[in-house]
Amino acid sequence: MKVTVSRRAHFNAAHRLYRKDWSDEKNNEIFGKCNNPNYHGHNYELIASVTGKIDQETGYVIDIKILKDIIKTEVEDVFDHKNLNLDVPEFKDLNPTAENIVVVIYNKIKVRLGEHLELEVTLYETPRNFVSYSG
Ligand code: NI
Repeated sequence: MKVTVSRRAHFNAAHRLYRKDWSDEKNNEIFGKCNNPNYHGHNYELIASVTGKIDQETGYVIDIKILKDIIKTEVEDVFDHKNLNLDVPEFKDLNPTAENIVVVIYNKIKVRLGEHLELEVTLYETPRNFVSYSG
């Protein structure tokens, strides 16, 4: 019997979608307003869902305080009020699309969890646009 435990979190961040190796014309054609040279921001919402067996002693799949602290350390402290392109090393040479951000977040949280726990991360870039990754 497996149960999923979820924690919702939030961060504000700026980004710009572009490729250094493409011309301005091609960047504008592919990324449009997201290629604004002076960046633009999003209110990102995040749901991290951890699935596993209930520990018979504690009754927990994971102590949600531990999950909360992992998200704070690995995501909020690193991404909140940051420029993803300039401030977060993972995006130095990786376009900070929602797709790439959710994979980076997944990897950062996953290594902090026990091997027996499964993880799915859903990232909302806007209330209507969201992506999910589960490894
Ligand atoms: Ni954007």
